[in-house]
Amino acid sequence: MPLVGMAKRAKILGTGHYVPPHVVTNQDLEKRMDTTDEWIQQRTGIQERRWVEGEVGATDLAVIASEEAIRAAGLEAKDIDAIIFATLSPDLNFPGSGCLLNDRLGINGVPSLDIRNQCSAFPYGLEIADAFIRAGVYRHVLLVGSEVHSTGLDVSTAGRDVAVIFGDGAGAVVLGPSDVESEGVLTTIVGADGRFARELWTELPGSRCQPRISVQGIEEGRHFPKMNGREVFKHASRKMPELVREALNRCDLTTKDIDLLIPHQANLRISEMVQRALDLPDDRVFNNIMRYGNTTAASIPIALDECVRNGRLKAGDLLAVTAFGAGFTWGAALIRF
Ligand code: UT7
Repeated sequence: MPLVGMAKRAKILGTGHYVPPHVVTNQDLEKRMDTTDEWIQQRTGIQERRWVEGEVGATDLAVIASEEAIRAAGLEAKDIDAIIFATLSPDLNFPGSGCLLNDRLGINGVPSLDIRNQCSAFPYGLEIADAFIRAGVYRHVLLVGSEVHSTGLDVSTAGRDVAVIFGDGAGAVVLGPSDVESEGVLTTIVGADGRFARELWTELPGSRCQPRISVQGIEEGRHFPKMNGREVFKHASRKMPELVREALNRCDLTTKDIDLLIPHQANLRISEMVQRALDLPDDRVFNNIMRYGNTTAASIPIALDECVRNGRLKAGDLLAVTAFGAGFTWGAALIRF
């Protein structure tokens, strides 16, 4: 239902998440490539991740997370006015997964926008949803991040630096206009720098290649994600705390005002560096990368839903989120619950 003429900021009305049941431990990966549980835990903090089995796509995970978020918001699917679907692992090359999700939720006709901002997708999606709601374009926006990485990874030793990191999962939030001025999305910051596009990328299939995918391309492994881990690490650990400080400054707040920080779950070492840079105690930072690995667009909304459900986030709390990833892209947000 359009909200013409109103300018209320967006608030999160409900959250949900879903991860596939199949657990893949570091020991499982030891059997498939030259790696060790010790290396993975020391360098990333990851103990296990979830990987889909059989033909399961990003939309299959997103449906369950979305239904949970809609229920938690006290709404029904027919109350959703727009979908923003964030993924780098869409079910199909086109059409976007948002279209598939609208059909699965039985809300055919609802505008469905796919966004591709990788690990920074949650702040990007939040900024778009907040703008839609403030402008009175839509009342209830479903923002879902969902990834199936496992079907696209090189699980041989050649791809071990990337393969051990990524996990499958989906997280969703429903946003709507806030009735209380002090509540909701206080600010969002997003940015990108394409000079670094090749530092973390998957080249094929791509429209600049003729043909878009070939046996030679596959044999060369150009359809697998490639990452310059050290370069990404360096930029991520510097940029993520910087963004939080900038967001706080904009709102005349300080790090002491943060009740909970959810950093994008890229690497536990990055999260710890962000925490130290912001001088936050352990009970003000939430990490779940140990259990799920890096789920890219899904990582912040999965963590957010866990925090809402386990009581880590309460009404009135100030939540900060911060993210960095392929593109390079980055983003942060402050949300008053
Ligand atoms: O979500 C946003 C996107 N991603 C990120 O933010 C990830 C950022 N980067 C990272 O998290 C880290 O760079 C990694 C975890 C990917 C790698 O950790 P690192 O400490 O930067 O290791 P490295 O790439 O410098 O590799 C060190 C060694 C190399 O061996 P040599 O050349 O020293 O003999 C690698 O070949 O570790 C080797 N290595 C592995 N060994 C065992 C790389 N991957 C593995 C592995 N198991 N899985």
